[in-house]
Amino acid sequence: MTNMTTHRQQDLLTLADRVLLKNYRQQPVVMERGSGVHLWDSGGRRYLDMTAGISVCCLGHGHPALTAALVEQAGRLLHTSNLYFIEQQIQAARAITERCFGERVFFGNSGAEANEAALKLARRYQHEVARQPSRNTIVSTLGSFHGRSFATVSITGQEKYRTGFGPMFGPVEFVPYDDLDAAAAVLRRGDVCAFIVEPMQAEGGLLVPSAGYLAGLRELTRETGALLIFDEVQTGIGRTGKWFGHQHDGVEPDVMTLAKALGGGVPIGAMVASEEAARGLSFIEGGAVPHASTFGGNPFACASANAVIQTIEKEGLIEHTAQVGEYLGTRLAEVAAKYAPHAVGTRGRGFLRGLVLDRPAGPTVAACRKNGLLVSVAGGVVVRFAPALIAKREHIDEAIGILQSVLGQVLASEP
Ligand SMILES: Cc1ncc(COP(=O)(O)O)c(C=O)c1O
Repeated sequence: MTNMTTHRQQDLLTLADRVLLKNYRQQPVVMERGSGVHLWDSGGRRYLDMTAGISVCCLGHGHPALTAALVEQAGRLLHTSNLYFIEQQIQAARAITERCFGERVFFGNSGAEANEAALKLARRYQHEVARQPSRNTIVSTLGSFHGRSFATVSITGQEKYRTGFGPMFGPVEFVPYDDLDAAAAVLRRGDVCAFIVEPMQAEGGLLVPSAGYLAGLRELTRETGALLIFDEVQTGIGRTGKWFGHQHDGVEPDVMTLAKALGGGVPIGAMVASEEAARGLSFIEGGAVPHASTFGGNPFACASANAVIQTIEKEGLIEHTAQVGEYLGTRLAEVAAKYAPHAVGTRGRGFLRGLVLDRPAGPTVAACRKNGLLVSVAGGVVVRFAPALIAKREHIDEAIGILQSVLGQVLASEP
């Protein structure tokens, strides 16, 4: 690390302090380049990246197959709008539908947009297709995270994200996660439009529900006429060791939303629907286009999705994530045992796992970064590991080694 690079990073941080909106709480580094599971900051320091851009960079940084696909597409055609059909969009929709229950796909640019589309589909399905205009209530779960747009923050089951922004979109009702009795009580009222749920609560703290929860929700929504939406923005595209998180439970929703890893780092979101549910957003001759997005599904973004899906398949990354994810779970359990009672346990599935502490995880995460390891906080007290799907056992071992030494220091300084 030279003086010049250190100064460059400091200059950028000073400029950021002056020109960026102060909404985030970034750690004081500027990332400059990446390769595989490593990142380098503009001061020249190398980090082992166990965040993958918050579950986004599933192929790691600078994967040659994704880079080549993007370079090729950027030189050929970036954008045309949805006034015309787009080959890469059609291929991406096929690639997704071949791997799950879904039969039709709408593309947007983010997780929030995918969820917005799902909410609009659900409302219009109930109003125009099922002819049940009184079915307006969206049911969501406490502790969930569905995005920051008005509607998606309104259905996010964590009050802290809504504070100061009222009035919210509604009617919305929250029920405890993993509680079928509570879900049944609301659904059986008859005014529910849709139930939206993460197959595993990610931002909420990496909570895996009990076996049978998703199946129970499927039965209840079928019985009562509400649509079932799985938010797979974080759990989708291999992260949990299956293509989609709900596939661990053998249950199919009416709608699923995707974003994050779908583009491997290029912004893209998708709403995937069954043929029946898709009627909720179908164009009706003589009417307006019911939902749209200027950038949604553009050639560049969809070229990334196609390259991501093909590469995951070709490199066997789903099986790899399931296996090495188990190993990560075992190593985290060792750490939990060693640092009990301050380490309370482990949670998660595949490559979306964490160590639960008896205190806020922020200081541990910051100390890991100072020691060359990038992890993040989930649910306040969980140190989250969400590495690229290409991460190997040796990377996990290195990360666990750093975490252990950091925990020793953090616990010694604030027992
Ligand atoms: C489950 C889930 N849904 C939705 C979102 C929002 O996605 P985006 O930030 O792309 O709008 C996130 C983001 O973390 C998420 O984890």
